Formats: sequence, C-alpha cells, structure tokens
Amino acid sequence: MISRLSDFRFPDAASRLYPDTPGRPWVLEVGFGDGRFWPHFAATFPEAPNYLGVEISGVSLLKANRRLRQAGLTNAVLTKLPALPLVREVVPQGALAAIVVNFPDPWPKAGHTEHRLLRAPFFQLAASRLKPGGAVLLTTDHDEYFEFALAEAEASGVMRAELTQPPAAALETKYALKWRDLGLGAHHARFIPTAHPAVPHGTILRFPDHEEDPTVPHAVLTLPETFDPSEFRKHTARGGQTREDPSGWTVVLLDVYRSLKKDGWVALAHVVEGELTQEVLIGITGREDGTFLARLARFGGPIITPGVKAAVGTVTVWLEGQGAQVRHRGY
Ligand SMILES: C[S@@+](CC[C@H](N)C(=O)[O-])C[C@H]1O[C@@H](n2cnc3c(N)ncnc32)[C@H](O)[C@@H]1O
Repeated sequence: MISRLSDFRFPDAASRLYPDTPGRPWVLEVGFGDGRFWPHFAATFPEAPNYLGVEISGVSLLKANRRLRQAGLTNAVLTKLPALPLVREVVPQGALAAIVVNFPDPWPKAGHTEHRLLRAPFFQLAASRLKPGGAVLLTTDHDEYFEFALAEAEASGVMRAELTQPPAAALETKYALKWRDLGLGAHHARFIPTAHPAVPHGTILRFPDHEEDPTVPHAVLTLPETFDPSEFRKHTARGGQTREDPSGWTVVLLDVYRSLKKDGWVALAHVVEGELTQEVLIGITGREDGTFLARLARFGGPIITPGVKAAVGTVTVWLEGQGAQVRHRGY
C-alpha cells in the first residue's frame, strides 16, 4: 500500500498501519529502490514482519509496490518521502526491530558529505526509534562511506558496530547485482544502540481534521479599498532555527492569484524545513462582515508544521505591507 505523508499520524502506531498483524516485528527500509530486498528478506521469517519502506524516487516507489503486491506482502506500507522526516515524525519511539539501508547514495564528492544519510544525527534518531535488541543494518559497496558511517556511529555516542556478513537478501538488490557484476564486494555493519535517547517528535506536525478546525493557521484582517496585489513580487522569509533544528524553515511566497469566484485571492507558497518540502495554498477570502480570512487551504493535503504556520504569517505580513489591518492572528 502506498501512503502519503498526510495519510499518517504523528506519531503513528503499528496497530493502525498494520491492523491485521499489529504484533509482528516492524522493519523500516530506507531507499528501497525497485524493492527487491523485502520479498527476499521477508521470506526468511516464518511470518513476514510489518514493513515500512521510504524512498524519494516516485518511479522506484511504483516498481517496488508492484513487486511487493506480486509477492503477496500485504502488511507493507510504502511512501515517497525523504527518510528523516518520516522516521522523526511518523515512527514512534522504541518501535522498530530493524532499520535497513542497502547501498545508500554515497555522495562521493568533497563537500557533499552533509548529504549522506548515515551521519551522527541519523544514528541518534535511529537509536530512539529502535526497540531494545533492534539494529541498523547497513550494506554498501563504498569503502569510504562505510568508514564514514562507522565513524559517525561512534561520534553519535549511542551506537556500537558489529561487522558481519550481509543478509543474503541485501546481495539481491539492483545495486548489489550491479556492483557484483563489476567485481566489487559489499561491506556490512549492524549498528546496535547502546542507549535509546528520547528524540522527540515535532509537537505540532499534524494534519487538519476538518474545514472548521480552529488550529488550522489563519488570520482575520481588513483590506484597504485600494488593495491591488498585481504588484506582488516573489519573496522569501526565514526563521524558526533552534539548537535541535538549525535549518529552521524557509518560506518562499511565489504568487498571489485572484480566485475564480472573485471573492478573494489565493497565495502560493513553497515551504522548506530540513528535508521536508511542501507547496501550500493560502486562501484570502471575503467574509460577510467585510473582513477577510487568510487561511491554509486543504488542497494538496498540507501538514501543519512550524514552516506552514510561518507561510500563513508571511502572507499576513505581506498583506499588512499592503495596508491590511490584522484583527486576529491564529498561526
Ligand atoms: C543507490 S540506490 C540503492 C537502491 C536499493 N537499496 C538497492 O540496493 O538497489 C539509493 C536509493 O536511495 C534513495 N534515497 C536517497 N536519499 C534518500 C532519502 N533521503 N530518503 C529515502 N530514500 C532516499 C534513492 O532514491 C535511491 O533509490
């Protein structure tokens, strides 16, 4: 089954995602590619564990979904997302039996190591989401990335590494076969938590429940008679940096359109928070009492994050710059 970010709860529960098999071990695979690992690996258990697969490539997602369906693996959830927000926000603490990473992108160029997945913050997050006895299983052909991952695990202070043979299934993936054909071997490490730090979920990452939900970010304002957004210029706002999340949020306000019903306008914003990117619409709609409501629209299934709240704030501040008077801020 394919799930979008807005289909999840934050955090979610195995009993909701796998209602027929809630008690089975829960395995996460990061970057599953065309999905060859899981059918092989699941077959080594008497009962297929519950599977959560995360991948950023949409083409890979469709291929893997077909493969898992053909293999009859129904207790499997696939999603097209960057791994970190999914693990941080969706997976509960102490839930996973294993996190599998096969042949991660090595980002070999100098200065690109910050794009690598297996860095110390990932290991801390993984240690928080793994249950006692769980492990991160890394298989890679890349010598330098392997050494890098071992050093980062050590630097995380919460993992010890065991160097062992990879599971046979990890040598059946598309990339395993590609490197095997080139005569290259594979390294394998099991990273076992030595502590389970409490890496918290983002407390306000949530999906609006219904149209009237008062916690959907909004503002109530009056607009001047002369209001004319035709002079709108794209602009960017940044903020929300904390010690835990130094990247904070970036909001790019892209455009403002007249709504077709001519009862207001729609602002289009691009919101970036770490690896999570959302495109959101913010309606600016006239109300019976003559005021206007600027409010996050449901279109596209937005997730309410600090950055999405800030997008509504950015629209409101822009409207103030156009002469609007704010009566109420709900963001
Ligand atoms: C080298 S391929 C390996 C694919 C597969 N595991 C295999 O062994 O054939 C790395 C995969 O990781 C995916 N990927 C890269 N960064 C990711 C991220 N942040 N979250 C999820 N998947 C990611 C890529 O789209 C790609 O499919």
